[in-house]
Amino acid sequence: MSVFPTARLHDKVVLVTGASSGIGAAAAKLFAQAGANVVLAARRAEKLADVQAACQEANKAGSTGHGGHCAAVSLDMRNTESLDTVLQRLPSWASTVDVLVNNAGLAMGTAKVGEIRAEDLDAMLETNVRGLIYMSQLFVREFKQRNAGHIINIGSVAGVEPYPGGSVYCATKFAVRAFTEALMKELVGTPIRVTNVQPGMVETEFSLVRYYGDKDAADKVYHGIEALTPHDIAEEIVWAASRPARVNIAEAGPFHVARSS
Ligand SMILES: NC(=O)c1ccc[n+]([C@@H]2O[C@H](COP(=O)([O-])OP(=O)(O)OC[C@H]3O[C@@H](n4cnc5c(N)ncnc54)[C@H](OP(=O)(O)O)[C@@H]3O)[C@@H](O)[C@H]2O)c1
Repeated sequence: MSVFPTARLHDKVVLVTGASSGIGAAAAKLFAQAGANVVLAARRAEKLADVQAACQEANKAGSTGHGGHCAAVSLDMRNTESLDTVLQRLPSWASTVDVLVNNAGLAMGTAKVGEIRAEDLDAMLETNVRGLIYMSQLFVREFKQRNAGHIINIGSVAGVEPYPGGSVYCATKFAVRAFTEALMKELVGTPIRVTNVQPGMVETEFSLVRYYGDKDAADKVYHGIEALTPHDIAEEIVWAASRPARVNIAEAGPFHVARSS
């Protein structure tokens, strides 16, 4: 943690979507360790409860004497009512969110065009694109009123380099990149910051979800390579959030796997 000037994050309120697993959980823990207050959002309450406990431990371990608040809110990125009510459902200490990490996302399947299941198409578009844009709009309105705030969207190397079998997922991450860049340009000249963090291959539940719970298929994805860890990407997210207020990191990444195992 010593590479970060964490004082800039002390007592800030950070809302992380997709915080029940992987990159989102790792980012939430690192923000808590750095002395921020964190709101964890996702669908699976029991997973969020585990991450909430880990954030409380991380905050103590960070020994900053700051932050320490941690709450879980139920959020379904595909459900308009869930999105519309999220601000009202935040605890009182989180009424002013400083950083939104728009991390919730998924890939479903590796089917080629013509064979893509309609339900997978909807899941990816609604979660990765519509949900992310919806959350961004909610918080941009808030941030404009306060003339402050930071939106960190989690894109992907797939938003830069499309690949066969990933047409829809890649298209969603291209959309994240386009949306994030346009938003950043709209907000140039204001103190509101906008960042696109673009992970490469990170070992999380991502592949398990993509292969419909088939653990063998998911494990094969990471065979023979030393995949990035969720913590690696969490460091990039926290790094972008902890720059001086005058510095906007437009893009972090794409991050590639550096070596085989
Ligand atoms: N892993 C990689 O190789 C990789 C590479 C580049 C980019 N990314 C991106 O990184 C982000 C995080 O992925 P990860 O690798 O950490 O995968 P993960 O471990 O599967 O985590 C995905 C998170 O998204 C949440 N989520 C999915 N659908 C949701 C919905 N409808 N409403 C609310 N939350 C939802 C999940 O929570 P619930 O299921 O509890 O709702 C979970 O917390 C994604 O945007 C992904 O596209 C990942």
